[in-house]
Amino acid sequence: MSKKKDGAGSASEAQIAVHWKEEGYVHPSPAFIGQANMVDPAIYERFGLDRFPECFKEYAELLTWEQYWHTTLDTSDPPCWKWFVGGTLNASFNCVDRHLGEYKNKAAIVFVPEPEDEATQAITYRELYVRVNELAAYLRDFAGLKKGDRVTLHMPMVPELPVTMLACARLGVIHSEVFGGFSGRACGDRIADSGSRVLITADGYHRGGKLLDHKVKADEAVAVAQESGQAVDKVLVWRRYPGRTVSETPMVEGRDYFIDEGLAPYLGKRVDPVEMAAEDPLFIMYTSGTTGKPKGCQHSTGGYMAYVAGTSKYVQDIHPTDVYWCMADIGWITGHSYIVYGPLALAATSVVYEGVPTYPDAGRAWRIAERLDVNIFHTAPTTVRMLRKAGPDEPAKYDYHFKHMTTVGEPIEPEVWRWYYEAVGKSEAAIVDTWWQTETGGFLCTTMPGLQPMKPGSAGPAAPGIHPVIYDENGEEVPAGSGVAGNICIRNPWPGVFQTIWGDRERFVETYYAKYCKDPKSTDWRDWPYFAGDGAMQAEDGYYRILGRVDDVINVAGHRLGTKELESSALTVEEVAEAAVVPVVDEVKGRAPDIYIALKPGHEGDGGTDGRVVAAIERDIGKIARPKHVHIVPDMPKTRSGKIMRRVLAAISNTMDVGDVTTLANPDVVEEVRVLVQGEEKVALKEGPEDLKRFGEES
Ligand code: WTA
Repeated sequence: MSKKKDGAGSASEAQIAVHWKEEGYVHPSPAFIGQANMVDPAIYERFGLDRFPECFKEYAELLTWEQYWHTTLDTSDPPCWKWFVGGTLNASFNCVDRHLGEYKNKAAIVFVPEPEDEATQAITYRELYVRVNELAAYLRDFAGLKKGDRVTLHMPMVPELPVTMLACARLGVIHSEVFGGFSGRACGDRIADSGSRVLITADGYHRGGKLLDHKVKADEAVAVAQESGQAVDKVLVWRRYPGRTVSETPMVEGRDYFIDEGLAPYLGKRVDPVEMAAEDPLFIMYTSGTTGKPKGCQHSTGGYMAYVAGTSKYVQDIHPTDVYWCMADIGWITGHSYIVYGPLALAATSVVYEGVPTYPDAGRAWRIAERLDVNIFHTAPTTVRMLRKAGPDEPAKYDYHFKHMTTVGEPIEPEVWRWYYEAVGKSEAAIVDTWWQTETGGFLCTTMPGLQPMKPGSAGPAAPGIHPVIYDENGEEVPAGSGVAGNICIRNPWPGVFQTIWGDRERFVETYYAKYCKDPKSTDWRDWPYFAGDGAMQAEDGYYRILGRVDDVINVAGHRLGTKELESSALTVEEVAEAAVVPVVDEVKGRAPDIYIALKPGHEGDGGTDGRVVAAIERDIGKIARPKHVHIVPDMPKTRSGKIMRRVLAAISNTMDVGDVTTLANPDVVEEVRVLVQGEEKVALKEGPEDLKRFGEES
């Protein structure tokens, strides 16, 4: 946790100018408002703190409950809040079975393979019901999975992924999906942490024009889990093309099974959805933190489902007649909440696209939108930047019309926002900029699209029932609407908030609640603000601008990477003595990691160190963590107490002012490192965004 800073220092630091100015409003069209699910401004009163927590019944009532709850919020064991206590339900039933009456013949999932000559597959709600049941029977009877067991999924963007999640949910099995692009080792660590004895994976998938061998990662994952003492006795493999294997990796006798073969005896089987208590966990989703070890965020069944159903209906404006395409990967929280559980709970048609949005050319995404007549589109600023760079004029060539678009995962620059609005949305779509986190289950800040105007670069006001507060480093509240930056927290619990870090309650309390807890003995939720780990400011109109992480986490292309994870990976390279990772501005990814390496004495560096560091990071985490530059430096700039000054390195990587370095133990090294990175000539310094100025201060 961070150290307290003196008041004067933190006030001046907090009053810093933010990196882009307040923009004017853009209003949603009358056509959008006319059809929107939420046009009643009284929703904010209904969800006022004086109506808390009962207000959230409105979301819970969107679900079908086996048994109604007796206590809306139980705070007896803070900060592990329990929502809808006494209530029972099943998530798979809510996403599938209950739609069979009205919507059985409607597409639940439309799968778009990356190869354009391969047919699109529409899976109706009826078909989804059949597949989920058959797989649930197989998982129960063949793999021996039952309520409360954890199972790790390491799957790409294929329809079998939501089918598997829903089959697990049907049985009460807690799924932990690991992003398919993560390495086998990263998957193995998560298998061990969650205690899974079954891994569900795929033989391969298409990405960027290549058919990738994915099964190879399973072997490594199992070996890594075994090293940590977690045995995996079954690896269940979905084949991209049933009956034919696209992976060259051999199957291990008695451990590995092709699901398409194994399903034969279960065809036509039905499995009753297991009645789950509202607070029984639905899934675990790992995310990076400030230490090397990823955190398993544990989400509940009742609270989570209520929150994603409510926000999907009102913020995403999903109607059952909509064709909704969220381009995120299901391996991240966005995909869980807003490709699978939220949209399917509302009987939407959810598009699952296997590949890269610009493959084989910059028009691909818009061809998909045109062909499927997608009318709700959801993506991250990094993808918007990529699509714009690849083909700024492409969207105009295709005949599609979005009524609604979402941006998520990073701050979006107003200029990028405008291209998204004008070119992609053809100035017709309402945009919501949604700020939230793996931990929060669903949106925290966003405009309500039928009620409020958009403001480019601002995430908007808080979602109904979410009551943020900005604190300074000393725990003082920054005045609301003052435009002064500080740490954004949420005053109250909400149903979508995660329950704990799997197996590490202490870290959960320490990371999210200890900093601003008013009384650790209190069972009153008012004493337990949720610390999000983001810097933010609130403008006079109540809209929040999110400034980025205040911890050692970098947001690379909308994905959180813990700098410590990269550093510990680099330290596995023999000659590396010290490693420091800092964010560097990247035109498309927003931020990318730059890594600084100091070698052990006696190692001059043989020119191969960079390659070995990159290889280690790809092995331990995956290609998404690949550093932009590897800088081999004579020494790290350090404080007198020996702490590496990451802020100084971040300033050098981004040609920003390094500030006063005279108090360092080795001030001369700063200039040496600067010359190494920027060259002999002094280059013009840049102002640089806020998160970079503060980077590393908290550790
Ligand atoms: C950042 C993704 C600005 C933020 C849903 C947060 C954002 C982290 C926004 C969570 C946004 C997310 N504007 N920043 N609209 N949305 N962030 O867990 O720093 O992958 O803490 O969840 O992304 O990333 P995560």
